[in-house]
Amino acid sequence: MPDLLSLFPPGSELAEDGGLVVGGCRADELAAEFGTPVLVVAEAALRARAREYVDELTARWANSRVVFASKAFPCTAVQRLVVEEGLGLDVAGGGEIVTALKAGVDPAKVVLHGNAKSDEEVGLAVEHGIGLVAVDNADDVDRLEAAVPAGRRQPVLVRVIPGVTADTHSHVLTGHEGSKFGLAPAAAAELITRIEASPRLDMRGLHVHVGSQILDVEPFAEAVAAVAALGEFPTYDLGGGLGARYTWADQAPPVPDYLDALIGAARAHLPAAAELIIEPGRSMVAAAATTVYRVTTVKRGAHTFVAVDGGMGDNLEVALYGQRFEAGIVGRFDEPDQERVIVVGRHCESGDVLVDGVPLARPTVGDLLAVPATGAYCYTMGNNYNGNRRIPVVFARDGNARLVVRRETYADLMSRDVP
Ligand code: LLP
Repeated sequence: MPDLLSLFPPGSELAEDGGLVVGGCRADELAAEFGTPVLVVAEAALRARAREYVDELTARWANSRVVFASKAFPCTAVQRLVVEEGLGLDVAGGGEIVTALKAGVDPAKVVLHGNAKSDEEVGLAVEHGIGLVAVDNADDVDRLEAAVPAGRRQPVLVRVIPGVTADTHSHVLTGHEGSKFGLAPAAAAELITRIEASPRLDMRGLHVHVGSQILDVEPFAEAVAAVAALGEFPTYDLGGGLGARYTWADQAPPVPDYLDALIGAARAHLPAAAELIIEPGRSMVAAAATTVYRVTTVKRGAHTFVAVDGGMGDNLEVALYGQRFEAGIVGRFDEPDQERVIVVGRHCESGDVLVDGVPLARPTVGDLLAVPATGAYCYTMGNNYNGNRRIPVVFARDGNARLVVRRETYADLMSRDVP
């Protein structure tokens, strides 16, 4: 029986009675207090991960910064936590600018991305003094030139397509030739010339992002070599994309291995005085959280379906990207008597599967079922399908639990209706 506990946030343990303990809090007590489903973040594990990223990067390249890709878990509590640990924030659009500012980030430490930024978003960025705007296209330059007041210069990066195809789901590939993000090197070079001549813009450097859930390190190094060909700049933002471990079989590169490859390539190809930025999202937060559901029905037939009180309303990773997760019945991880089941959600479509084939010990109505590694993009892509009330987020630390995002209410579901 593989070690299911190893997929839960670092520091998780089994109590004497077999109960799951995350952040020092028992999952059954969290479920009783906050209801189910509930997304539980092990706060100490998340802080440690943020510090690991900063320490390992600065040890390899002193003039460097880690900015958390907010999109992976864009609630203010998570943004605030990483800011407290000294990170900046990568934001993709107006909504994430607003939550980042609410989280108390220094705007100078924010990087704005987006392949289709609106006038409003560019205006917000300029108004609030966002540190770097990653220019994706020539229209971004038009918008910035219109928004930046005379006498000021907005620092910008230019997003370059490195022409690197990593081994991941095609929906989360971004650095391949033909990507909708950024500009091919020749077009980037032309735009750089224009930006360098602009009195409103300060051409700071280049940005590159290969994709997401990438479980080998070579594509990151290849991308560095590709952007280096565009010339020397003060800043290089090398993006995010490191994969997370979701399953027993996954082997995600540790942060030091990833940075050895990335910074090794930077040493080989980039100016020694340059500032380096990285933008981890998934690999920062995925392992720090778990979702706890309640089993609502067990149906035995051609398959054994174990249905829970959540699903694609709180975790779209499976339906959209075919991501595999593992799961366990809380209190019975270690029981030998396991039955192979399909864990499904409560939503009205057959694609609403949480785990397609996983051993569970005597699944029974009323049990709690825990799915590990739900920290990345699950909160983000939560939705109201079938009138789903988006689920709460709880920070657990040293045995104390604190609600940081409450569950939606039925009133919330109607709050945008115009009578
Ligand atoms: N920087 C940029 C410019 C990005 O577009 C992304 C992710 C990141 C950094 C962070 O990448 P990460 O370290 O998280 O791989 N909706 C998908 C994920 C899409 C990721 C998009 N960009 C999902 O739910 O899996």
